[in-house]
Amino acid sequence: MNTITLLGSARGNGYTAALCEAIGFKTLNLNDYQIRPYDYRGDGRGDDFLGLIEELLRHDRILLASPLYWYSMSGPMKVFLDRLTDLLNHHKALGRQLRGKAAGVIASGGARVPPPCFEEPFRLTFDYLGMHYQGMSYLDTSKGLDGAMLAKVAASHPFKADYALATSGNWANATPA
Ligand SMILES: Cc1cc2nc3c(=O)[nH]c(=O)nc-3n(C[C@H](O)[C@H](O)[C@H](O)COP(=O)(O)O)c2cc1C
Repeated sequence: MNTITLLGSARGNGYTAALCEAIGFKTLNLNDYQIRPYDYRGDGRGDDFLGLIEELLRHDRILLASPLYWYSMSGPMKVFLDRLTDLLNHHKALGRQLRGKAAGVIASGGARVPPPCFEEPFRLTFDYLGMHYQGMSYLDTSKGLDGAMLAKVAASHPFKADYALATSGNWANATPA
């Protein structure tokens, strides 16, 4: 199975980017793409959205990565999700190819745990698109970056092979010091 991560953060080298690196899949940064806000025309205005979708579609599993900004996903990630609407109206053949793919979320935030309203839009959107949502891993960055915690959160994502170990309660014995 090949997996791709799409990072949507205000900074490409911040905490969420560090989590993307720790989880270890190929990462695309939304800041490197010109994605215009949704505007109801959706008929190919020459930005990078369709090319990005085609790149994502070359993968079996799609992981969206976002920091918590005001209890929500980041602005760049919301713009990207809004643009998925184009796939329902103007580019249906592309949109249909998302069906059946596995999807996941990784996130970072200053809160100990994210509010439930953070994950719901992702889960519901994947569901609407016929994708199979596998879950979210969340990194609390309130005290900065902690390498061991970063590794543990990365490993706790269902897309990671060591997921079962990381969630079994025996991680303390297995994780590197
Ligand atoms: C604009 C903004 C809004 C934020 N809002 C929240 C929030 O509502 N809840 C929270 O727990 N952390 C919040 N934070 C903290 C970030 O989620 C946290 O520092 C995150 O790890 C930053 O990731 P980044 O380096 O990828 O931007 C906010 C940070 C910023 C810059």
